[in-house]
Amino acid sequence: MKLLVTGGAGFIGSHFIRQVLRKYPSYSVVNLDKLTYAGNLENLREVERDPRYQFVHGDICDRALVREAARGSDAVVNFAAESHVDRSILGAGEFLKTDVLGTASLLDAARELRIPRYVQISTDEVYGSVDRGAVREEAPLRPSNPYSASKAAADLLVSAYWTTYRLPVLITRSSNNFGPNQYPEKVIPLFITNALEDRPLPLYGDGRNVRDWLFVLDNCAAIDLVLHQGVPGEIYNVGGDTEVENIVLTRQILRLLGKPESLIQSVADRPGHDRRYALDCHKIRAVGWKPAHEFGAALAETVRWYREHEAWWRPIKSGEFKTYYGKQYADR
Ligand code: NAD
Ligand code: TYD
Repeated sequence: MKLLVTGGAGFIGSHFIRQVLRKYPSYSVVNLDKLTYAGNLENLREVERDPRYQFVHGDICDRALVREAARGSDAVVNFAAESHVDRSILGAGEFLKTDVLGTASLLDAARELRIPRYVQISTDEVYGSVDRGAVREEAPLRPSNPYSASKAAADLLVSAYWTTYRLPVLITRSSNNFGPNQYPEKVIPLFITNALEDRPLPLYGDGRNVRDWLFVLDNCAAIDLVLHQGVPGEIYNVGGDTEVENIVLTRQILRLLGKPESLIQSVADRPGHDRRYALDCHKIRAVGWKPAHEFGAALAETVRWYREHEAWWRPIKSGEFKTYYGKQYADR
């Protein structure tokens, strides 16, 4: 099988590419990535010399390039996105371009080239905040912020290509991922690396917001399953079955690092901050998937990775990243 993976230099996409090339000796992967601030070819060192792997530097909005990269593919797996809620609050433009128009460009290429499978990587955030219980795939989309609104728009477009053209699409909507190689703007790697530097951990609002945490390798296994066994036109929720309040998560990280709770700094809440996400995952469980990693052990493994890979994250945090956070906090 020949796969076109987009956004494969980012966090989840790079784990997925490494997992696929390890698991399927006969597969090849073309990775099309723009290398935004979040793309990092260090994440792909393990495969860069593998003859089955090819990197194409470019934008999923570039229709001619996408068509070229997709030619001869058996499937497209689209991870490429602007992915951080706080950045989307500062400006929605790039989110609309990449997450919506970029998805449209990929769908059109898949249609023109008659690619037999298209997998869209989406998020539980499209459902908006879930006060009680857990949402199924048919639940209405009620995104709260520009990031989740752009992902919801992309999902609707993907589904419309099934209804209108019978393009064989599939969508996975996963909960919050964590693990090695995650850009240190997302809460887990931000808090681990801040704590390692004895810097404050900015906890939004009352710290009682709930996220359902999923280890990145478990999400990659779910995407693999949906790619091979999912029913075209269907959407699959992928949750970690691990709901944790942010304050509890923060204390757990500090405990693992042997750092004091005095590092926790309460800061103003994120505007439009979703209180809780929770997915009903009966559908993907019926296909044979469940998370294989226990949260506590996976978090400890993640903390260990950041401790042992300072060369990966220190350059990121000393550059553009600081400017971004300086701007964000100056606004408060
Ligand atoms: P990431 O921000 O780490 O990586 C995104 C990648 O996409 C980067 O390599 C970046 O260079 C690339 N990219 C961005 N714009 C591009 C463009 N226009 N053309 C080509 N490449 C481009 O993101 P991630 O955390 O790995 O998330 C991957 C996907 O999974 C996203 O679609 C995201 O919405 C979804 N998702 C993420 C999570 C999570 O917790 N991280 C949870 C659910 C769903
Ligand atoms: P984040 O990692 O940005 O993921 P998402 O918003 O997509 O769920 O945030 C996870 C939770 O952590 C969310 O409730 C917001 C909170 N958070 C903080 O309290 N402080 C921070 O500095 C960040 C980045 C997030």
